[in-house]
Amino acid sequence: MADGPYDTIAAVYDHLVPDALLSPRGSAGAFAQYVAPDARVLDCACGTGTLAVGLALRGHDVVATDASAAMVARTERLAAANGARVAASVCSWEALPARGWEDAFDVVLCVGNSLPHAVGRPGRRTALHAMAGCLRAGGRLVVTSRTWEQVRADGSRLQVGERLVERAGRRGLPIYAWTIPETWEAPHFFDVAVAFAAPDGEVTTYRERFAFWPFTQDELREDLRDAGLEPEGEAVAADKAGRYLMTARRPG
Ligand SMILES: C[S@@+](CC[C@H](N)C(=O)[O-])C[C@H]1O[C@@H](n2cnc3c(N)ncnc32)[C@H](O)[C@@H]1O
Repeated sequence: MADGPYDTIAAVYDHLVPDALLSPRGSAGAFAQYVAPDARVLDCACGTGTLAVGLALRGHDVVATDASAAMVARTERLAAANGARVAASVCSWEALPARGWEDAFDVVLCVGNSLPHAVGRPGRRTALHAMAGCLRAGGRLVVTSRTWEQVRADGSRLQVGERLVERAGRRGLPIYAWTIPETWEAPHFFDVAVAFAAPDGEVTTYRERFAFWPFTQDELREDLRDAGLEPEGEAVAADKAGRYLMTARRPG
């Protein structure tokens, strides 16, 4: 995903993240119950690295990958700023099997509603197979997703933030627009903008269009089984409102 949408939005991504998940410790705390104390972890959609760095600070051996070079660079900077050891590199889900990580991890994380970027069911199944292949027998995959039934029920819409969001001394206004097609199979578009006003009134806007291929929880369970995993359970995701978390184990 070189020069993809996350490369553009990486600079202002924190303006889109809830306060509680901005700190590495807060982010890791939200997922701690799914990661045993001595687990070796792969965060395969690491984004800005808050979760990967937070888990490293809790003593985990953490490998972090993402398709976006700008996001991986942010993870590396965050790790350095916190004195944490995180082995971060650019890698798409599709490229994981070539990394030599078969049976290498106790936990693989794909959170923050990342999996719906995989293109349709074939893309999702390819991604899940690749993630499952990195798990040791008995290891656990953790996925979070928006609740797409709700997103589709709400329909196409524009959402303008009710408050300016301040991050690193910059106050920005987040704006979101959903384009929801007739069918589940068609790409669903999410336009994101963060607008910053200078004292002289000039407005600078970072904007990007993200495509998602949604799925139901039943479909995700089927896809996890297709990848050779056994779904364990579901919960409300701690990472953002309106999302759920699903875990699955590699048998053995
Ligand atoms: C919504 S962000 C979530 C990031 C982070 N997990 C979080 O919770 O903030 C989705 C991430 O998935 C990554 N991504 C999208 N498609 C990918 C792919 N095919 N392989 C690896 N990463 C991908 C993006 O670059 C982005 O960093």
